[in-house]
Amino acid sequence: MEVIILDTELEVACAAADLVARLVAHTPTAVLGVATGSSPQGIYRELADRVDAGDLSFGRARAFALDEYVGLPRDHAQSYHSVIQHDVVGPLGFDPALVRVPDGLDPDTDASTARYEREIAEAGGVDLQILGIGSNGHIGFNEPTSSFASRTRIKTLAPQTRRDNARFFENVADVPAHCITQGLGTILDARHLVLVAQGRSKAAAIAHAVEGPVSSVWPGSLLQLHRHATVIVDEAAASELELGEYYRYAFANKPR
Ligand code: GLP
Repeated sequence: MEVIILDTELEVACAAADLVARLVAHTPTAVLGVATGSSPQGIYRELADRVDAGDLSFGRARAFALDEYVGLPRDHAQSYHSVIQHDVVGPLGFDPALVRVPDGLDPDTDASTARYEREIAEAGGVDLQILGIGSNGHIGFNEPTSSFASRTRIKTLAPQTRRDNARFFENVADVPAHCITQGLGTILDARHLVLVAQGRSKAAAIAHAVEGPVSSVWPGSLLQLHRHATVIVDEAAASELELGEYYRYAFANKPR
């Protein structure tokens, strides 16, 4: 795992955007895994700037979203269908036909989640998965004690996650109780995991993910099982890491 600690949120966004841009420049048909939430917003803004400048095109790239709320109409402003359209597909210029979001409305969740897994496999798997992390360590919507072998399925959101996400709704009661999320096993199949986190509220989750024992109680610790994981954090999110000095040294002395 590579841990990169940077001074500002903007630097975090630019460093992660560089990884995405390098992949898509080399492989225009790359398959991206895209996350919602506040954490990756800077990455999308930075990439959109590069698209607007004519330096980059996502026109042939594919994307799969990590998760979706159950029961929200697709056109609800907070459905992840809407959020991905608004924050990713539009600004980055993806072909909407090449972007998938789990179906939170199909009552046959077994069939719809199996279909989602099949679509990812048929696309050749995810080349680069962008990830945020919840304050309780959740990845996608895989709450604590989610199996590292789990696949796309329905889950119940933790009360903490509903409280955290209440800021996007009128009040916490409006946050759906259930979601469809890629499993931790699905996420582990991606060829490169790029996790970004900013701010003090993520410091414990980052410390457990990077340095804690591998445990489903802190789902972010799945990163330790992946052969190519990059964690990019600001100083506040890095503040509970014990080996911060080593990560800074390793980054400053990275072989070419
Ligand atoms: C959300 C999303 C996750 C995201 C996490 C952190 O609920 N389902 O994919 O990584 O929680 O969110 P934020 O980046 O807003 O702190």
